[in-house]
Amino acid sequence: MAEIKSLTDMQDLVALAKRRGLVFQSSEIYGGINACWDYGPLGVEMKNNVKQLWWRAMVDRDDIEGIDAAILMHPRVWEASGHVAGFSDPLVDCKKCKQRFREDKIHDENRVAKKCPNCGGELTEPRMFNLMFKTFMGPVEEDAAVVYLRPETAQGIYVNFQNVAATSRQKIPFGIAQIGKAFRNEITPGNFIFRTREFEQMEMQFFVKPGTDEKWFEYWMEERRKWHLSNGLRANKIRFHEHGPGELAHYAKKAFDIEYEFPFGWQEFEGIHNRTDFDLGRHQEYSGKKQEYYDESDKSRYIPYIVETSAGCDRTLLTLLADAYRSEEDRVFLALHPKLAPYKAAVFPLMKKPELMEPAERIYKDLAKKFRVTLDETGSIGKRYYRQDEIGTPFCITIDFDTVEKNAGVTVRHRDTKEQERIEVSRVVQYLDDQFANW
Ligand code: GAP
Repeated sequence: MAEIKSLTDMQDLVALAKRRGLVFQSSEIYGGINACWDYGPLGVEMKNNVKQLWWRAMVDRDDIEGIDAAILMHPRVWEASGHVAGFSDPLVDCKKCKQRFREDKIHDENRVAKKCPNCGGELTEPRMFNLMFKTFMGPVEEDAAVVYLRPETAQGIYVNFQNVAATSRQKIPFGIAQIGKAFRNEITPGNFIFRTREFEQMEMQFFVKPGTDEKWFEYWMEERRKWHLSNGLRANKIRFHEHGPGELAHYAKKAFDIEYEFPFGWQEFEGIHNRTDFDLGRHQEYSGKKQEYYDESDKSRYIPYIVETSAGCDRTLLTLLADAYRSEEDRVFLALHPKLAPYKAAVFPLMKKPELMEPAERIYKDLAKKFRVTLDETGSIGKRYYRQDEIGTPFCITIDFDTVEKNAGVTVRHRDTKEQERIEVSRVVQYLDDQFANW
């Protein structure tokens, strides 16, 4: 057996994403814009799969509702949330090479010596740099009209807590889920779509009675772990990291990162936070509107505690791609779970001849009623396999002369093992159904 290797160099994944239409650099023909990326035809399919799986896991429950809040919010939201005062990173510049760094990310030795990690030059004193993007609302660029692009989707949920509680008839404990764009003017973006300036979050805020928050925190840690494993992530590549006192965000009583072992080290891709009554308490204070909940079960009144699960959509996608990347002597393939793969199967007529094209199109149309599939009749079969392997298509179905002349069925080739078997034409849909059900 040839050795199958996992991803060791992110550049291999970046190159694959580009050549197969998963992810392109934003505004590439103008030289690109730093830390912004565009999803191509297959990338958007896979990203939609991630979002749908998350949405179904969250909102197909009786105790969670979905919303879609605006990106632009009242500026006071960000004062209440603590982002105006506290959402900043300490920034240092190298006086020699002019590079800019986050002081807290500079390697300890350099920090103590106050040297530039790039050229060894002298660094400036740290300045606090707010990560929120500012823009102007209305036609006049005056201070009064400054608004921010939201740096997290969570606040759109908090300010709608009373609206949702009043209209959905949910009783605590219950959650509100949202998927949407967030923006951060990151000082040190990088590692492809890992840290970008525009990204999507998939956040769920679970509102609970104070005193039950620790139990719910444990519950959501386990739920999120199970979800990631159900998407095919290898268990030995993820771990939970608890925030120590120095790491905890201003709103959190307890926090865990879910980390993945990327080629560039263990890194967070989701956070579970016990945010206590900080958020609703602050919105009550800043808006002057009561954010209490009347609990009919025991006639008590309280500001709910919040247990948050906060995942980056792009970062989850990157995690799944990095985890699925495999290289062998003669090929690269993405060992994606079929529910994430952009195409569930590819249909190949052996040659572009009418007697093969016609049955191939028939099989393709049959499959397309049920699955997202592609028909590919160009190039050698080997090249076609290679293309589908690289985008993670689990099955390739080939129609050859035996299919039509001897009624000998089609060959189905498995992505991960390259094994092939012959299946009767009438059984192909059922065969794929069974394979996906038992994956
Ligand atoms: N509401 C809580 C919150 O936003 P966070 O740890 O700052 O918490 C949550 O962000 C998740 O959002 C991260 O785990 C990551 O997946 C994603 N995320 C944050 N900043 C990002 C960035 N610059 N680029 C891509 N994803 C990012």
